[in-house]
Amino acid sequence: MINENVAKMLNEQINKELFSAYLYLDIANYYVKQGLDGFANWFGVQAKEELDHAMIFTKYLQNNDFEVVLDAIENPTRTYKDLRQPLEEALKHEQFVTASIHAIYSEAVENKDYRTQEFLHWFIKEQGEEEKNATDLLVKYDLAEKNILIIDRDLKSRQYSPADYDFD
Ligand code: FEO
Repeated sequence: MINENVAKMLNEQINKELFSAYLYLDIANYYVKQGLDGFANWFGVQAKEELDHAMIFTKYLQNNDFEVVLDAIENPTRTYKDLRQPLEEALKHEQFVTASIHAIYSEAVENKDYRTQEFLHWFIKEQGEEEKNATDLLVKYDLAEKNILIIDRDLKSRQYSPADYDFD
């Protein structure tokens, strides 16, 4: 048997993972609208991974004879001020998920729920990767933005010179 409090937290985590998928789908939709299909693809893949996470928690609970109860998923729709903001939100969200998984782990430790501690090791490692991916994306974005500023600076140096045309 896994600890009852721990099981409830794991059940709540399913909702958080499903919300993550929903949030990333919304971000993918935002980038489609901005004409950035690559960014949209990246977040679409991310959303699928989040569904996998939700299923792993679900299976674990069911394999341990806990009845999973699904809750409503919050509306993920956000308004972003620029192309960078969804990337910042994604990193913040992953940090939130990491904290949530750590809280479950602490509860499992406190209740000597060794099985769940072992189960959560994969997620603790995965969250390290999730945060790194989100951070890397921000770094890449900032590097690309610098290139845009270089191009912008170059474009500023263009001078007008009247057409060399003989009107006679
Ligand atoms: Fe399921 Fe991105 O954490």
